Parts: sequence; C-alpha cells; structure tokens
Amino acid sequence: MKLMNSLLTATVPFLPRWMARPFASPYVAGETIDEALQRAESVIDQGFSVTMDILGEHTLDVEYSHKITDDYCSLYNQIIEKKLDCTISLKLTHLGLSISGDLAVKNLNKVIASARLGNQGLTIDMENYPYTSQTLDIYRTALKSYENIGTVLQAYLHRSMDDLKQIISPNLRLRICKGIYLEGEKIAFQNGNQINENYIALCQTLLEGEGFAEIATHDAQLIHHLDRWISENHIPMDRFEFQVLYGVPMGNTLEKLKDKGYRVRVYIPFGDKWYEYSIRRLKENPNIAGYVLKNMFKRK
Ligand code: FDA
Repeated sequence: MKLMNSLLTATVPFLPRWMARPFASPYVAGETIDEALQRAESVIDQGFSVTMDILGEHTLDVEYSHKITDDYCSLYNQIIEKKLDCTISLKLTHLGLSISGDLAVKNLNKVIASARLGNQGLTIDMENYPYTSQTLDIYRTALKSYENIGTVLQAYLHRSMDDLKQIISPNLRLRICKGIYLEGEKIAFQNGNQINENYIALCQTLLEGEGFAEIATHDAQLIHHLDRWISENHIPMDRFEFQVLYGVPMGNTLEKLKDKGYRVRVYIPFGDKWYEYSIRRLKENPNIAGYVLKNMFKRK
C-alpha cells in the first residue's frame, strides 16, 4: 500500500488539470459559488448541515486576499438570503496570514461583519504548525467580539491537550480532527494509535467540560467509540455534532448517526484553486492518494 501511495503521489503532480480532475471531483463541489451552493442545497435536502470552504491557502498577494475576503462576504450574503443551514470554514493564510497578521485580522473582521448579519457560524480551520499559535490567538480575540465562531485542534499535535485546557470555555466551539499536514515527531504523534487515543481524550475532555464539540473524522472505529461514550455519559445533543468531508464514502454510518437525532455536518470545499489544493495535499500526505483510489473502487 505504501509503495502504491508513493507511486501515485509521484505521478499525480505531473498530470494536466483535465487528467487530475477525476481525482479531485468527488471531493470538490465545483468552481463557482453558484455551483457550490447548488450542491450544498442538495446535501441539506438529504438532512445534513453544511459548512462551505473556498479552496486556497498561503496567499502572498494582498489584492488577492481582499478578493477572497469579498468572496466569503458574498457567500455569507447568499447563505443568509437562501436561509441555508450552512456555516463557513476558512483558512487564515487564505486571508493573508502569510503576509501579515494585521492583514489577516482585518480581512477576518470583514468576513465576521457579514456573518453577523445572519448570526451565521464561522470556523477558522487549523493549518500547519507555523500557524498554530497565531491561529489560536486570532481565534481568542475574535471570540470576544463574535460568539458564533469556532476553531480546530489537531489530535496529532502533542500540544493540543494543553491548548484545549487553555481555551475551554462555555462559548468554545471546537472541531477536533486528526490533522492533515505532515509534521515532524518533535511536534506530532506519528503513530496512528497514539493519535486516536489523543483524539478520544480531546473529545471527552471537551464534552466533560464546557463548549461544543465538532467530531470531524471518517474513522469508523472512532465514531463508534465516541457515539457509545456519548450515550453512556448522557451528553446532551446540543453539545456536539459529527462532521465529514464532502465525497468521502461512509457506508450507512451517517444515516445511523442521523437516525439517532445527531446533527451531521458536511464540509464542502469549492473554487478554482481545486487543482493546486489537491496536488499540494497529495504531496504533503501520500495516504490521501491511497484513500482516493480505494474510494474510487468502493464507489463502483
Ligand atoms: P483516517 O485518516 O484514519 O481516515 C479514515 C478513513 O476515511 C480512511 O481509511 C479513508 O477511507 C477515509 N478518508 C479520510 N480522509 C479522506 C480523504 N481526504 N479522501 C478520501 N477518503 C478519506 N485537518 C486539519 O489539519 N485542519 C483542519 O482544519 C481540518 N478540518 C477538517 C474538517 C472536517 C469536517 C474533516 C472531516 C476533516 C478535517 N481535517 C482537517 C482533516 C483531518 O485532519 C484528517 O486528515 C482527515 O479527516 C482524515 O482523518 P480521519 O479522521 O478521517 O481518519
């Protein structure tokens, strides 16, 4: 499997866009806001909640960071107008954090002003390690002016439990994920079992404390374990939701969660940067190439 992943990862970056599209298309809801909103509406019609993300990151062009900010504002306007059960997830480096913290915060505040018009949810995605502390600082400041904002902790980081204990509060809205970037052993667990143990510990600490947990994983064992723990510990349904990425095959797991009355939110990425985004992710994390291939066969 490892060899297959490495081969795929070595080949895919050289594919032209039209050839790479089949790898990306199950996971990306089109290039434009209109296309993505149509997909979001159909996902909502199936009983899910949605969060939408414009693909892209590490913007080094100030004008472009303003354009993305405006795109997020107009996405909020349409979500509010259509009364969709839909939040937005964004990356601070897409709003200019790689250029300067001030620029990212100014752009974020503009997006928050649009979210506020409909009291819509907003999640600040967590990026690679150089941005962890800055992202948490910006989140903490933003939370003082807008309650309906959340962020993400990655279970693979050694520091995440300490971070959780520092930010835990009644207003905390926190997505827990395993972590998608390739990080070294000094800062991140490399072993899958340790990551899973930390994942469970983070969710349980959050749910035994204060705040709202967004359990973001496709790992059937983790979902099963947490679902059972939640029932045994009588955690109220308004304290958590499950989240998955658009297009990842989940068998009947999501239907089962919905049947229990749990909220399940689907993360829908879209935008013209789908090619660059997919290639970057593939280079960073060879496992994804294997997942994509496995899922292609599963679908058939
Ligand atoms: P695991 O990696 O063990 O995957 C379990 C199974 O799910 C695999 O065997 C495969 O079948 C399937 N699968 C997983 N990922 C897939 C993919 N991309 N394509 C196809 N199949 C896939 N990360 C981060 O660093 N910062 C963030 O802000 C976020 N945000 C986020 C939001 C949401 C809603 C989700 C679900 C995930 C994220 N992530 C993220 C990504 C997360 O960190 C993690 O990399 C992936 O979810 C994969 O980990 P799993 O927990 O699914 O387990």
